[in-house]
Formats: sequence, structure tokens, C-alpha cells
Amino acid sequence: MAARESWGSRFGFIMATAGFAVGLGNIWRFPYMTGMNGGGAFLLVYILIVAVIGLPLMIIEVGLGRRAQLSPIAGMAKLCRSRTNPWNLIAWMGVTAAVAINAYYMMLIGWIVGYFVMTLTGGLNGLPADQLQPTFAAFTTNPGPLLAYTLLSITVMTLIVRQGLGTGLERLARIAMPLLFILLVALAVRSLTLPGAVEGVKWFLTPDFSQINAATVLAALGQAFFSLGVGMAAGFAFGGYMHPRDSDVPGNVAIVVACDTAVAVLAGFVIFPALFAFNIAPDSGPGLLFVTMPQLFEQMPGGVFFGGAFFFLLLLAGITSAAAIFEVIAASLIDGYGISRTKAAVATGGLWAVLSTLVILGEGPWSALQLFGLTIFGLLDVASTNFLLPAGGLALALYTVFVWKFDGFRDDVNVGAGRLRVTGWLRPAVLIVIPIGVVLVLLTSLGVIK
Ligand code: ALA
Repeated sequence: MAARESWGSRFGFIMATAGFAVGLGNIWRFPYMTGMNGGGAFLLVYILIVAVIGLPLMIIEVGLGRRAQLSPIAGMAKLCRSRTNPWNLIAWMGVTAAVAINAYYMMLIGWIVGYFVMTLTGGLNGLPADQLQPTFAAFTTNPGPLLAYTLLSITVMTLIVRQGLGTGLERLARIAMPLLFILLVALAVRSLTLPGAVEGVKWFLTPDFSQINAATVLAALGQAFFSLGVGMAAGFAFGGYMHPRDSDVPGNVAIVVACDTAVAVLAGFVIFPALFAFNIAPDSGPGLLFVTMPQLFEQMPGGVFFGGAFFFLLLLAGITSAAAIFEVIAASLIDGYGISRTKAAVATGGLWAVLSTLVILGEGPWSALQLFGLTIFGLLDVASTNFLLPAGGLALALYTVFVWKFDGFRDDVNVGAGRLRVTGWLRPAVLIVIPIGVVLVLLTSLGVIK
């Protein structure tokens, strides 16, 4: 059997893991969730949840993967010494969430490719503001071009994953992540220097405490899990590629969490100052980037360049995350069934070609096919973000409390750690705050707590 692959360098691990974490969650989802949940108040709750719940859970997830030295399903079976032990659910829930999320994530990448092409070819030029929503609706409900863009993106992901960890995902992330960061800073500078931008900054940074309620906390928790990718099995898979003794779990995870949060905040500095400068409301929901932002590009000097750069940035963010999710499933097939990387990459691509086609049809010709008033896309998003990811996070915390035990967890993840180590201050977070907090949020999701 071929030797198991591992990261080429610490920088490679950090870039690939940050590439996974930093994605459409930061640049598409975070701004519209902030826009719909009161600006500064949402930002504050979000940052608190990331620090107290997201960071420890990600250390646990990556640490478990490093301990197992395998991808999630095979790894949990190894740690549990049985395939039927209930703790195997940690891996199965993670992989299910990854499959469900990527099924619509690939469609979103298709939207972005479409908008990137439309911006550069002038397809949106001169459209009056009231035509942007119908244009968006026509593009997203007509399977033709959208399906082509999505399937093309899936083919690119398949080729990246087929390349192997070092020359595929790691190399992509080493180039794309620094580029994304530079582009984001340049766009933020452009936005912050618009006349009237300061109002947007104030709205984004000043918390209005009256806006904080159970729904805000639920939205912020779901957003933190989605954005960090906690409970999506990728942290486990990526930990599985880390050197068992000579790698730093807490330090690397902290850098990734800091990058993820910084990119979300920077995306806020790109979007809100510009919206306020042009008097556009920030609460238009998931279409914010596709309906609202083009109004902005239309009005602003250099709008075609600004718009093209913006959608290219989104594409970079989306591709590195989706490629990482592809890697998780391909690695599971390689470890679980001993098949070659090429076969695993093709099977993974085939799986999402079918699933994303169903999601796209569910937004268009099959839109009558609904459950609880939600299309396939809406259902997958709510089921994964509000239930599967928090339940996966809860399972990770409970595993640490009852099986790994806090001391075992601390001693394991501190092997190879640098200055930042897990110490007793995390004990109350892991033993009390995370389990109780996540249970309360899950009960809110289920409507048990109003
Ligand atoms: N964590 C990834 C994102 O934020 C999935 O898009």
C-alpha cells in the first residue's frame, strides 16, 4: 500500500485549512447574515461564539484527526476500535454535512462564475436597478447556463483533487489564499474611500444591543459553524494528514480561525461602506451580492473593474473551500475502500455532478418540489447549518467530555504545540459552555425554545 500523504509544510497546512475555512461563508453568507441581523450586534455575538465555541471545537476536530492519522470515517472507527460504536456518528454526520453543503455550494460557485462572466462581458451594464432582481431570478432558475458553469467547476475540482494533496489542494491554496487577501484589502480600501462610507463602518461596528435575541444567537452560531467548517469533517481529514508528533494543533488552528474571522470582517469593510455610500439597504438576504452589489458597481467609478475583481475574489474563496470538501470525500473513499486517487476523484466529482444538478433543478423547473416550504437548496442549507453542524459540534464536545476526557485531549493536542497551548482555561468551555450552549441553540432551532 502506498505511504499515506501528508502536508508539505506548516505553511501548506495553514493555507489549505484556511482555504477551506475562508469561503463563500465569509464573503457571501456573513455579509447578508449581518445585514439581516442588525449589523454591529450580530458581529459582536459572532466573534464571541467563534472565540468561545468555534476555536475549541476546531482544535478538538483537528486534534482527533491527527490522533487517528486517517480520514474521518476510517479514523473514527480506528479510535472507537469498532465500526458500530455510536461515536462513529461524529464522522458520519460530518461527511453527510459535507456532502449536503457541497451539493448547493457547487451551484453557488456556478452563480459566481455566471456573474463574473456577465460583469466582464458587460451583461449587467446599464441595467436599471429594478431589473437586477429579475435578471438574478432568470439566471438562477434557468438550468441551462448555470448547469454548464456548475459542471465545469466540478470538473476543475475533480482535476485538482486527482493531482494529490501536495500538488493539488496545497498548491492551489498557497497561491489563491494570499491573492484573495491582497484583493480583499484593495477592495476594502476602495470601498472605505468612497464619500459617505463612514456611515456603513459605524453601522457595521456599533452594536445595538436591542437587536440581540435568540434568533440572532442561532444565526450567529450557524454562521460560525458554516464559516469555520466545524462539523464538516474537513478539520478531521486535514488533521489526519498532520505529522503525529511534529505538528502544532492549537497554534495552527488559532491562525486559521483568526484568518477566517479577519476575512469575514474585511468582507464587511468591502460591502457595508459601499452600500451606505450609495444609500442601498443591507438587508436584502442571500441575493445581496448578486442583486445589490451590481447596483453599486453600476454607480461607482471603475465599476466594471471593481465588480470583476469582486466576483473573482468570491470565486477564489469558493474554489479553495469546495476543493477541500472534495478532498474529504475522496480521502474517505481512498482510506475506506483502498481505491486509487484517480478513481476516488472521479467518483467524488460524479456524486456532486448528480447532487448539484438536482439542487439546480429544484430552484428552477422543479421548484414546486418543496418540504416545509423549502426548496432542495433551502432544505439542505437549513438542515446542515441549523441542525447537522451544531449536532456534530455537540458530538465532538461530548466525545471529549466522556471518552477522550479533558486531560487526555489537552495532553494529546499539546504534543508539538508552540507558545499557544491548551490549558485549564479551556476546561469550562469544553465541559460546560459548549455542550449547554449548543443544546440550547439546537432546541431553539427545533422550536422547543422560543
Ligand atoms: N467554511 C467554508 C465557507 O465558509 C465552507 O464557505
